[in-house]
Amino acid sequence: MNSKITAIAVYTPSNRVTNEYFEKIIETNNEWIISRTGIKERRFAEPDEYTSDLCIKAAKNLLAENPDINFDGVDFILVGTTTADQVMPSMASQVQNAFNIQNAGCLDIMAACAGFVYGLVLAKGMIASGTHKKILVFGAETLSKFTDFTDRTSCILFGDGAGVALVETSDQPKILNAITGTDGSHGKDLYLSQHASVVNGENIEPNGKIHQNGKVVFKWAIQTISNKVGELLSKNSITLAELDWVILHSANLRIIEAVASELNYPMDKMLTSIEFFGNTSSASIPLAWDIASKAGKIKPGNKILLLGFGGGLTFAGIIVEV
Ligand code: COA
Repeated sequence: MNSKITAIAVYTPSNRVTNEYFEKIIETNNEWIISRTGIKERRFAEPDEYTSDLCIKAAKNLLAENPDINFDGVDFILVGTTTADQVMPSMASQVQNAFNIQNAGCLDIMAACAGFVYGLVLAKGMIASGTHKKILVFGAETLSKFTDFTDRTSCILFGDGAGVALVETSDQPKILNAITGTDGSHGKDLYLSQHASVVNGENIEPNGKIHQNGKVVFKWAIQTISNKVGELLSKNSITLAELDWVILHSANLRIIEAVASELNYPMDKMLTSIEFFGNTSSASIPLAWDIASKAGKIKPGNKILLLGFGGGLTFAGIIVEV
């Protein structure tokens, strides 16, 4: 059974945080942040606004923006997140409860910034196996609640937001082949630990904040992602020129520029969300999609390559046709 994305929607908190805010709390400046990351501003959730709330608001927007869509018959809910409100219940089960969706399996996916694409990979597989027909896939984060605001190399990066895609059965294959992979040896280069003080036998700080070895992750991303785009294209027998858009995880604009340059692909066909929302981890790809869609860029029939990568270090890529 083939599958397709029938709609995508997002929600971002209203609290807009500009780079000037960071000039007041750490030694930094607007020019450094823009030139090193591409980030102009990001959104922070309210103190009492959590990841499940962002998911529910994104799902409400999906219904409001697509009057022909409803959640009747949704049989699975997947939420990619690394910043869940709590370990249990899952974010997915809170979405199920909010919309009173009957008979839906619920699962959160912990694949960091690759969580949304992993969700699409799983949804495609579940529909292909014939066990499910209508799946909600979220990427949602409240990274600001897990940010170390004394670490100037990481705190300027992160923002909050959520995106959701409705994946349904299709006559034609609209969600094509995927790739996934992981290099777990880099576990301690990007971590968030609440309890354990060791990963891969190496000491880490279990303070509930995001720790990142920015240089290592940056280098890994540039080296890995260009190759993986090539692998994904050949797995689908599609050339780069046949793609209408590429959406890489918006981790840092310089990573996206470096990959575009390595692939000799025009930057204006790389869709991003980093400028206005910062690094929103699993939400960054649907946010980029939504920005481009509302700007009238994404059109029916377009082929889009999506590739998420992050903590693990892990990645997932997939090509979809709109
Ligand atoms: N403001 C001003 N200066 C800063 C700064 C800040 N917020 N943060 C770091 N600096 C300084 C450093 O101290 C360093 O100074 P020095 O040369 O005197 O030692 C200088 O800027 C350069 O630091 P560096 O760490 O080399 O910067 P960078 O160009 O690598 O950018 C990141 C840092 C974090 C933006 C970048 O490494 C990055 O984006 N990494 C990957 C992030 C990522 O992809 N994460 C998620 C994956 S999902």
